[in-house]
Amino acid sequence: MYFKKIPVLKVESVNDEYFVLRIRDKELTQNIKPGQFFQIKDPDVAIPLLPRPFGVYDIKEDVLSFLIKKVGESTKNLSILEEGHIIQLLGPLGNGFPVAQNKKVLIASGGIGYAPMPYLEQKLKEAGNEVWFYHGGQSSNDVFCDDVQNCTEDGSCGHAGLVTEHIENCFDSMDVDVVYACGPELMLQALSVLCNERNIPIYVSLERIMACGVGACCGCVIKIKENGKVVYKKVCKDGPVFGGAKVIWDE
Ligand SMILES: Cc1cc2nc3c(=O)[nH]c(=O)nc-3n(C[C@H](O)[C@H](O)[C@H](O)COP(=O)(O)OP(=O)(O)OC[C@H]3O[C@@H](n4cnc5c(N)ncnc54)[C@H](O)[C@@H]3O)c2cc1C
Ligand code: FES
Repeated sequence: MYFKKIPVLKVESVNDEYFVLRIRDKELTQNIKPGQFFQIKDPDVAIPLLPRPFGVYDIKEDVLSFLIKKVGESTKNLSILEEGHIIQLLGPLGNGFPVAQNKKVLIASGGIGYAPMPYLEQKLKEAGNEVWFYHGGQSSNDVFCDDVQNCTEDGSCGHAGLVTEHIENCFDSMDVDVVYACGPELMLQALSVLCNERNIPIYVSLERIMACGVGACCGCVIKIKENGKVVYKKVCKDGPVFGGAKVIWDE
């Protein structure tokens, strides 16, 4: 794990809601597991005080990229940074997704849950897996790539409707061995039910609100079923990836 101050290489707008933040660093781009994340902060901004977590979107040689949705102060501030502006990065953090070998796997993402999945897809393909990739969003603004099965709730791009409904319709014809998912918790919960009914392992990456990001504050705990007991786990340190069958979802 590194703590570094690094100049912004580029901030590229995707559309009015999303942008890609790129930095260049040889050390940070080594040995990152898909699904791991970095805590990022602009040190020139006092409020919000805490850094924010962002999953690794892409690594090309020594360039590390994050796909970010503008939702509040930190993300809006990061979206307008100029090339060369110094930002702080702490990471890589978290456990990341276990990468299957030579299996048939399904990736499912919803909204900004897409961010860590292209890097996961790359690693899964390198490990000889056959990969299906389904992504859902509210509208075409939440669609990032034409090479995946896109679904939009307003029907403006790809299949009309929820990505979970589309997956349910196709699931039984696909003979999937493992599912990987990131997105809103209701989506992850619905997919976990679909997988449990078919005895298919599912790994879900949870995007909980975080404070310290390193296991010190207990601000991100969730309940997990483990050996017949309910135990508390920290999303930042024990996760963000958990077996979907083990997560006790909030009511
Ligand atoms: C492990 C992990 C990986 C993440 N990866 C990415 C990523 O790759 N790209 C990306 O854009 N975002 C990602 N997020 C979410 C991102 O961290 C938040 O959007 C960010 O912290 C918001 O900061 P802000 O100061 O702009 O907004 P804030 O002012 O902190 O929040 C604005 C609004 O968004 C809500 N909010 C904040 N964080 C979350 C969250 N995690 N889930 C649901 N609602 C939230 C707040 O309640 C508030 O209503 C990730 C989160 C986690 C935990
Ligand atoms: S955010 Fe502090 S323990 Fe997870």
